[in-house]
Amino acid sequence: MMAGTVLSGRRFVVSAGPTYEDIDPVRFIGNRSSGKMGFALAAAAARRGADVVLVAGPVHLDSPADVRRIDVRSAAQLHAAVLAALPADCYIGAAAVADWTPRAVAAHKLKKTDGTDALALELVRTADVLADVASHRPRPRLVVGFAAETDDVERHARAKLERKGVDLIAANRVGIAGSGFESDDNTLVVHAADGFARTLGPAPKTQLADALLDLIQERLP
Ligand code: CTP
Repeated sequence: MMAGTVLSGRRFVVSAGPTYEDIDPVRFIGNRSSGKMGFALAAAAARRGADVVLVAGPVHLDSPADVRRIDVRSAAQLHAAVLAALPADCYIGAAAVADWTPRAVAAHKLKKTDGTDALALELVRTADVLADVASHRPRPRLVVGFAAETDDVERHARAKLERKGVDLIAANRVGIAGSGFESDDNTLVVHAADGFARTLGPAPKTQLADALLDLIQERLP
């Protein structure tokens, strides 16, 4: 098949970037995801001819060519946008979705009040987008997740694969310089439900995106 058309007729939904969970009109809880890996994957899938929807959290990145981008802010918005973009042949969950969000957003800026030296924020769990996509009907043929771990990477990644019911999980170690969040380079260890494992990189995220797409393509029936 000609380069640039191998994925034509396939629909990909890719989530990327962090989410921001608002505390009040001027403050939020965020994380250090840059969105680069998800944007690189969306770009690579579009270059291969796929029809790509990119659901992006707040990032400072230009839209890849030939991709339909939907900007969101919070985990709840990302969840709704991803589910609304289904059905798809493949979902790639590269977003660093917040696991917790404030129970309520204060309508006014929280003020320091005299006599208090602590503030208790009540956080509640967000919906798990990846697990919800994996149990959605019709289910994407291939559901791909990421696992950002600081330790015991393989064990945590395999546990996540099973718990969330996904087909492939790309694990990376975070919390070390020159890899993971905010970095241009990364190393991924990709695990599949059937026991398959392969290390990709270290390499620039654009190159990793193509290597991961090769694995996805092989497994897309
Ligand atoms: N994810 C998601 N929705 C959430 C949280 C995570 O879709 N509310 C997805 C991410 O997009 C990623 C994968 O789940 O593909 C792994 O995220 P990670 O933060 O590593 O795992 P958690 O589920 O948060 O598990 P833990 O906190 O135990 O590490």
